[in-house]
Amino acid sequence: MIVLAIESTCDETGAAVAKGYGEPMAIEILSDVKATSTKMHAKYGGIVPEIAAREQMISIIPVIETAIENSGTRIEDIDSIAVTQGPGLIGSLLIGVETAKALALAWKKPLIKVNHMAAHVFANWIRPLVTPELPAIALIVSGGHTDLIYLEGLTVWKWIGGTRDDAAGEAFDKAARVMGFPYPGGPQIEVLSKKAKGESKFKLPRPMIHEDNLEMSFSGLKTALVQVVGSPAFAEATARSSREQVICALAREFNQAVVDVLIKKTMKAVELYQPKSVLLAGGVAANALLRENLVASIKYLGKKLFIPELKYCTDNAAMIAACALMRPDYVDSLKLRPNSGLEVG
Ligand code: KG4
Ligand code: ZN
Repeated sequence: MIVLAIESTCDETGAAVAKGYGEPMAIEILSDVKATSTKMHAKYGGIVPEIAAREQMISIIPVIETAIENSGTRIEDIDSIAVTQGPGLIGSLLIGVETAKALALAWKKPLIKVNHMAAHVFANWIRPLVTPELPAIALIVSGGHTDLIYLEGLTVWKWIGGTRDDAAGEAFDKAARVMGFPYPGGPQIEVLSKKAKGESKFKLPRPMIHEDNLEMSFSGLKTALVQVVGSPAFAEATARSSREQVICALAREFNQAVVDVLIKKTMKAVELYQPKSVLLAGGVAANALLRENLVASIKYLGKKLFIPELKYCTDNAAMIAACALMRPDYVDSLKLRPNSGLEVG
């Protein structure tokens, strides 16, 4: 079974060709091509939907052509076309969905609509990883979502917790902006925190970490950071010692605060549900501290941990292909949580 997958949720335009075979299914990525407008948004501190949609329009056909060419596959060999239906930015999504519909019609192939968040989780099924055993707990951490999902089986998913307000990635993006660094904030905060030589004298809260539930909140953490950066004590500290070191130490404290909350709540979910596997998914899964701390914590609990390769953490079309191959029958109806974002049909 060969699928051509298209991803156009936000500022990345992706196309991939993938092959699924065997039982349990092994997924081989034959090509994975991406164009991005990320740099065009950097100076605005976040994605500008209008710019993202225009760039999707420019990139989509060349990206698809290159993906087919790189895969060594002929159009006749493609069994189906998969596309992200949402959640995402409506203008960006429409470009991918309409292109996929047109190709499906012209080439007489079935169209599979995929839920973007489910696809992030299915990045864990891409070879050469061992197939995750179910039941599993998935922590999805992206720019728009922070969710804990219980996967009882491939077809039975239950939302068990998540953020009440900002997503973890959104918190990273806002924190970077407050500290004067461009979008996307996660990688910026990570680079800064690695440069820190010691602990920050400014401490940040770990919201809801001690509450006995699977809920999270990151907007208060962002507000605490805004208050620190605007405080006389911060102005004094940056005047007295190296401004760069003060900021790097604060970035490290912020990174640690987000990771502490994510780990604590994931551990709680594992204790409550006793899954066989734990799956990390989404753009924030690229964060080294989160990956390292999760490895250490899960080992302690004796569960199997799955983390996608770095290139399959942030938005990509390979994960859309993986999702379509593993679950070609849904994902139209899958609602990971109520009002999880815009979708186009
Ligand atoms: O999954 P993704 O590519 O897009 C969405 O579906 O939202 O996630 C993007 C988010 C951004 O907020 C970005 O700042 C964050 O993932 N991110 C990171 C890292 N790389 C990307 N956050 C923390 N550390 C990283 N290394
Ligand atoms: Zn995403």
